[in-house]
Amino acid sequence: MNRMNTQQSNQIRRKPLFNPEGDIEVRNRRLINFNTTNINDFNNMKYQWVSDWYRQAMNNFWIPEEINLNQDKSDYPRLPKAERTAYDKILSFLVYLDSLQSANLPNISQFVTANEVNLCLNIQTFQECIHSQSYSYMLDTICNPTERNEILYQWKTDEHLLRRNEFIGNLYNDFIEHQDKEHFFRVLAANFILEGVYFYSGFMFFYNLGRNGRMPGSVQEIRYINRDENTHLWLFHNILLELKKEEPELFDSAHIDLFADMVREGVDQEIAWGKYVIGNEIEGLNEQMVEDYIRYLGNLRYSSLGLGTLYPGCEEEPENMKWVSAYADANQVKTDFFEARSTAYAKSTAIEDDL
Ligand SMILES: [Fe+2]
Ligand SMILES: [Fe+2]
Repeated sequence: MNRMNTQQSNQIRRKPLFNPEGDIEVRNRRLINFNTTNINDFNNMKYQWVSDWYRQAMNNFWIPEEINLNQDKSDYPRLPKAERTAYDKILSFLVYLDSLQSANLPNISQFVTANEVNLCLNIQTFQECIHSQSYSYMLDTICNPTERNEILYQWKTDEHLLRRNEFIGNLYNDFIEHQDKEHFFRVLAANFILEGVYFYSGFMFFYNLGRNGRMPGSVQEIRYINRDENTHLWLFHNILLELKKEEPELFDSAHIDLFADMVREGVDQEIAWGKYVIGNEIEGLNEQMVEDYIRYLGNLRYSSLGLGTLYPGCEEEPENMKWVSAYADANQVKTDFFEARSTAYAKSTAIEDDL
């Protein structure tokens, strides 16, 4: 292929807005570079999994302030020092991640030309806003405004956290600077890894507080967030698989190697972060548990795209971490989410306190 063709085939066009002459033929619809009219026609979807996803996301609606944080208010000042430090740092990282997600998703969706997929991305963006707000509600309830600000800004005052956030931020910034198919693939991969790996030593820490009977309101907030994150992962998993069908050159061996490197880097960073914030001083957790669990997750995410095993020997959920899924799979939502089939439509929006 000559240089001109390579450049052309790497092009990605921003979706048109008012476009009455756009193509309304469902079978012509494509994730990117399609001449869309943007009309939301729920009876004519090309990507059938969207209706399941949409219904699930609607059913998951929740309001942070409906969770009572009274016990957390009295638990927080009494937390052992290592736990309190971890709580603060993890919360600061989560605030950053959810803020970045809510800011970056529109950068992705302006290039997505399948309107039903944009519907999902918009709902996801809304949910990321709720997540950021839930952390504010938690901090406003358990500490004073000075402490609150100190915790919130650790995302850039803590050197370890700043380095980590720079790495993630740069990956997202890259797509703003280089708007082409290649970088579109990278930003999707970065999203998938963020949703599927980066939150999890944080979630694990909160669930450990839960099983030690501490900070039950915070734990419940995190369970609702985790339930949403499961659907976000499901969404990006499906977008990547559709892209694989429509743009197979983005899934050649060079790109799969790149993706494997990105997952490895994400896993290494999450483990280093988990060791830094959790370490060996927190009752019920240690560095080895963090490492085993995060590798298992990295493996699970990688193999879910049909790419085989990334970490041989890490295919099974570690025996001593099985308690995590009791918290993470609230109402059994999407334990089978890669199957794009919901088991929980008929259930109420509320997570029952069944632990
Ligand atoms: Fe989120
Ligand atoms: Fe998310």
